Amino acid sequence: MINYKEIGLVNTRDMFKKAVKGGYAVPAYNFNNMEQLQAIIQACVETKSPVILQVSSGARKYANQTLLRYMAQGAVAYAKELGCDIPIALHLDHGDTFDLCKSCVDMGFSSVMIDGSHLEYEQNIELTARVVEFAHQHDVTVEGELGVLAGVEDDVVAEKSTYTNPSQVEDFVKRTKVDSLAISIGTSHGANKFTPKQCTRNEKGELVPPPLKFDILNEIEKRLPGFPIVLHGSSSVPQNQVNLINQYGGKIENAIGIPEEQLRKAAALSVSKINIDSDGRLAMTAAIRKVFFESPGEYDPRKYLGPARDSLKQLYMHKNTHVLGSAGKA
Ligand code: G3H
Ligand code: 13P
Ligand code: ZN
Repeated sequence: MINYKEIGLVNTRDMFKKAVKGGYAVPAYNFNNMEQLQAIIQACVETKSPVILQVSSGARKYANQTLLRYMAQGAVAYAKELGCDIPIALHLDHGDTFDLCKSCVDMGFSSVMIDGSHLEYEQNIELTARVVEFAHQHDVTVEGELGVLAGVEDDVVAEKSTYTNPSQVEDFVKRTKVDSLAISIGTSHGANKFTPKQCTRNEKGELVPPPLKFDILNEIEKRLPGFPIVLHGSSSVPQNQVNLINQYGGKIENAIGIPEEQLRKAAALSVSKINIDSDGRLAMTAAIRKVFFESPGEYDPRKYLGPARDSLKQLYMHKNTHVLGSAGKA
C-alpha cells in the first residue's frame, strides 16, 4: 500500500476548485504506453497545464496496473526535469467495482471514477457512496456518473444515451459525497459520435453535429453551484487526422466528434474535467500510417513511434491552449 502523496501526485480537489473559478477545464488524457505518457507530460509542461493521467480497465489489462503506476511516478520526476512542477493526478477511468477502486487507491492512484451509471439509481448511490467512504479515508477524490453515454466503454456498449436528469443531481451528490460528477449531455465515446444523418451541413459543406444539451448543463449548474462537472467522450475527431489515416491506407468512415467551440463553451461553465482519448488514438495512427506508407522498409519502432509521439504532443498542446483553456494554469 502506498499513498499517492509519497510519489508526488495530487488529488483533483484543488485542481477543480481553480478550474471552476477560472472558467477552464483540466485535461484528462488516457495513456497505455510510454509514448503517450511522454507526449502528455511534454505538452502539459510546455503549456504549463495541470493534468489528469487516466488509466482505464483496458489500459490495466494491456499494460499492467503496477507498471502504469510507476510510469505515473516517473512522469512526476520527468515533468520536474523538464522544468515545470505541474500538478499531476493519476485517475482510474470508468472503475466498475469497489474492489477495483480500492486496489487503485492502495496502489497510489490519487483519484478514481466509480461508474455506476448503468445501475439503477439507488444501486448507483450505494456503490458510489461505498467507494467515496473508502477513498476519502486516503484523501483520494472520487468521480461518479449520472446518465448514460452512448458508445463503447471497455466491455459495456450502450446503443443510446440517456441524458442526465438534473432533478437527481443534488440528491446524488449529497448522498454519495462525490467530489465531481460526470454527466451525459450529448457526448459519447469513440470516433463515431454521430451518424451523418444526425448532422446538418454548414456553408462549406462540412457536417455539423447537433449541439450539446447546454440547457441540461445550465440546470445542473444552477442546482450545484460551483460543483465540478466532468465530460466524457469529448474527442473532437479532427478531420485532418481521419483524412491522413484514410490517405495512407486506413478506412475510417463517418467519424464525427464534438466541435471544439462546444467544449470551450462547456469549459467556461462548470465543466472542470474533459476526457479525451480517441483523438490521441487517431493522431498516433495517422502518424504511424504515414511512416509505413512513405518508408515501407522502416522497421525501427522509434522511427514511427517517435513521429506519433510528436503529433500527439502537438494535439495536446492545441487542446490545452485553444479548447480547454488550461494552458498557463499550472
Ligand atoms: O472511456 C473509454 C476510454 O477511451 C478508454 O478506452 O477502455 O479502450 O482503454 P479503453
Ligand atoms: P473519447 O472517446 O471521446 O476520447 O472519450 C474518452 C473518455 O471519455 C475516457 O473516459
Ligand atoms: Zn469515458
